[in-house]
Amino acid sequence: MADLDALKETKEYYLDIPQKSDAFYLKGLNALDWGMQNRLARIFNPKTGRTVMLAFDHGYFQGATTGLERIDVKIMPLAPYADTLMLTRGILRSIVPPSFTQSIVMRASGGTSMLKELSNEEIAVDIEDSIRMNVSAMAVQVFIGGEHEKQSIINMTKLVDQGTRYGIPTLAVTAVGKDMVRDARYFRLATRICAELGAHYIKTYYVEKDFETVTASCPVPIVIAGGKKIAELDALKMAYNAVQQGAAGVDMGRNIFQSEAPVAMIKAVRSVVHENETAENAFELYRSLKEQG
Ligand code: 5RP
Repeated sequence: MADLDALKETKEYYLDIPQKSDAFYLKGLNALDWGMQNRLARIFNPKTGRTVMLAFDHGYFQGATTGLERIDVKIMPLAPYADTLMLTRGILRSIVPPSFTQSIVMRASGGTSMLKELSNEEIAVDIEDSIRMNVSAMAVQVFIGGEHEKQSIINMTKLVDQGTRYGIPTLAVTAVGKDMVRDARYFRLATRICAELGAHYIKTYYVEKDFETVTASCPVPIVIAGGKKIAELDALKMAYNAVQQGAAGVDMGRNIFQSEAPVAMIKAVRSVVHENETAENAFELYRSLKEQG
């Protein structure tokens, strides 16, 4: 036991050093509670303020789509290179080992298949289960202009309310219906509605024209989905343009896991997102990593 008599008075209060009170590094999220910000810091790298999310939640309405037939074989080898995994609770529990310590963004809406009207979704996970699985954010699809627009917006606001109770952020995913024009005007509308109604960050699609007006008019961070598989160089150009025009990263699926060399591709995407590497340099990296096997 410590000898109390021998204690010396050595306290130092550093009176000349004011306590630091830094603003949180993600835009529009300064007023959140500690738990929310800590979870967001597990998704967005604090050094770069950006994220590479690996999306493989497509099965929740598409089933075993190309590249996702065996998530244990094809996707888990990519996981160490992602900042966060975006998936469903079914895949989390059945495939991802609990010893995996990177952050998880869990798909929390569902209820329709690709054979039916997709916007007819509901919240499909209890908040208690999200807490149980220690997720860093919950994702919900929002169908602005879609048949069940209101229902999907209310799904989002309910999830924001539930998550706020426990410090879990909500990612709003802007889903574009088959008949809708994918342009900056539409995405400004969709992303802003999600942010105004409380989403903590928003996934949207990149558009060639005026994308910077989408990121500028959205008060919280935006990440872009990759969309359909395109040539690797084109996907890297899209990621480069998006982050240079204000996106806080990517939530990319098919353009990584359907690539001929998925590990090389995710490393190349990382270099664009976290190191501001040009698409051409990142593509060279992709090619050399692919050659090395
Ligand atoms: C499915 C999703 C996907 O996570 C999202 O579309 C990203 O994947 P991809 O890059 O393949 O488009 O939200 O609804």
